[in-house]
Amino acid sequence: MSRPPAACLIGWPAAHSRSPLIHRYWLRTLGIEGGYVIEAVPPDEFKDFIFRLSLRGFVGANVTIPHKEQALALTKPDARARAVGAANTLWFADGELCSTNTDVEGFINNLDACADDWSRYDEALVLGAGGASRAVLFGLLDRGIKRIHLANRTAARAQGLADEFGARVVPAAWDAIGDLLPRTGLLVNTTSLGMKGQPPLEIDVALLPHEAVVADLVYVPLETPLLAAARARGLKTADGLGMLLHQAVRGFELWFGRRPEVTAELRALVEADLTNS
Ligand code: ATR
Repeated sequence: MSRPPAACLIGWPAAHSRSPLIHRYWLRTLGIEGGYVIEAVPPDEFKDFIFRLSLRGFVGANVTIPHKEQALALTKPDARARAVGAANTLWFADGELCSTNTDVEGFINNLDACADDWSRYDEALVLGAGGASRAVLFGLLDRGIKRIHLANRTAARAQGLADEFGARVVPAAWDAIGDLLPRTGLLVNTTSLGMKGQPPLEIDVALLPHEAVVADLVYVPLETPLLAAARARGLKTADGLGMLLHQAVRGFELWFGRRPEVTAELRALVEADLTNS
């Protein structure tokens, strides 16, 4: 008798992830017999763990901190995972362990869902030059945006990403943000500013064009000061929780064979969990 398919989240620590809530909701509502569990795996055991993933009974996995770079190196990554420099979703194809980075489509699909006209703007301004910024840059370039201004507190990191991603990414000084806002059709915060316990992101959204779209990857709190200010001005916004939900879609589809939907009910479920924790 074969066991129902199961996937897992591999992290260290991994206890606070919302992924089980999301995937179990989809399993339940789609009537699929399957499982999704958390596996706390220390870094020196990660390699052995994923080499025996199938033997352990898993059809695939999500990977989170601190394993995402190791996951890239130990699997067959797609272009997205390579460009981001980190893998967060693993699955088997023809017996091989493959990987991708679903933050790219999580960001883009959430943007499409929240502001379907965002891609008509020529210029974007992305704040931050860490791992999350790489996923955003890849997604925006892939969708054909003409120019991305990239501002980061540490200028050398923005320059490094511009060198890597090509001429459509233009590094900008952190104190030049105010000057860039009037020509910014899409503003994306990938820094930790605005996150609970961190200082707010000091941006004057009044300087943005009337039709600008504002995205924030931070999801604790759900509404960052940046998003609150943008909404108060009547601008379209895309939040970090939306991206988190949309990035989970592809993994589920790869493991369980059905493409799930990001519904209002799922969002409410995860919102309630975030609010109560
Ligand atoms: P992630 O992988 O989530 O992107 P990260 O690599 O730690 O995380 O990047 C965090 C981003 O937030 C960086 O762009 C960081 O700027 P630096 O490269 O200068 O460190 C940015 N950041 C964090 N705290 C900040 C602050 N107080 N002011 C401005 N930027 C900040």
